[in-house]
Amino acid sequence: MIATDDLHAPQGESPAFDLSAYLTQQAVLVEAALDRSLPLTYPEKIYEAMRYSLLAGGKRLRPILCLASCTLMGGSVEMAMPTACALEMIHTMSLIHDDLPAMDNDDYRRGKPTNHKVYGEDIAILAGDGLLSYAFEFIATQTQNVPAERVLQVIARLGRAVGAAGLVGGQVVDLESEGKPDISLETLNFIHTHKTGALLEACVVCGGVLAGSSESDLQRLSRYAENIGLAFQIVDDILDITATAEELGKTAGKDLQAQKATFPSLWGLEESRRQAQQLIDAAKAELEPFGERAIPLSAIADFIISRTN
Ligand code: FPP
Ligand code: MG
Repeated sequence: MIATDDLHAPQGESPAFDLSAYLTQQAVLVEAALDRSLPLTYPEKIYEAMRYSLLAGGKRLRPILCLASCTLMGGSVEMAMPTACALEMIHTMSLIHDDLPAMDNDDYRRGKPTNHKVYGEDIAILAGDGLLSYAFEFIATQTQNVPAERVLQVIARLGRAVGAAGLVGGQVVDLESEGKPDISLETLNFIHTHKTGALLEACVVCGGVLAGSSESDLQRLSRYAENIGLAFQIVDDILDITATAEELGKTAGKDLQAQKATFPSLWGLEESRRQAQQLIDAAKAELEPFGERAIPLSAIADFIISRTN
């Protein structure tokens, strides 16, 4: 559920832009596309497990970022929708695996029992594997009206963002850092730029690639995404301390319990909020040359810092 109280258009920007309505409208499109993307078929058990987590709700921020960036750069929602769905499949599979007993051993996700709690560990591992592989198949087979070399670039960028150079690498350092509350800021930054930042960056940049953006515009989009990615993680760390499990739809207070170093543990809550705001300001500055067309991405940056779940 999107907390509508937090979604007013930011000061100084077009009051005509209603972020709450925009996010809801885009999420409805994504939801329908995700539902169509994965029909229930034999062997039903694995498709059921994949659908259980893929269709469990969530803000759909990653696909929405991809659609917003593609339309900002002159492309269409239709061109980007298969990639947008694939991004959500990858994000979902990373959460299924992250929640496994071998990793974070979590019982709740998106307000529901985790995948392995419902289907067992064996099927949860396979559901994650199935979603990961299907994401790439889906981009390759479903993308229409986009030159093949752009699709190839999206697949290559996404592969890199997900593998050991991205998400997987960040997760490894995160797991190694558990029980070490005194890790350096450098290590903490590495974890987050890889575990969360790499996929968020891929969302925004792949939207631009599909639309045929120039290299300099892609670099601008990439810097926007890097900044919102790190701000997103700082806010995540703050919410782990300040929000309830009900608000989060998952267990709260886990970082402290796992003796994890977090931005608030290094900087305190107030300085963490200040740093997050600075990153959001820097992200929005990257969008300035794009003018009014960038209002959705700019408003999403503001939403990242004001979100409550
Ligand atoms: C949540 O972090 C976890 C992630 C953002 C990614 C985890 C990545 C993996 C498990 C690698 C998956 C494999 C591939 C191939 C992508 P968190 O535990 O800090 O947040 P949480 O409180 O929401 O669980
Ligand atoms: Mg976790």
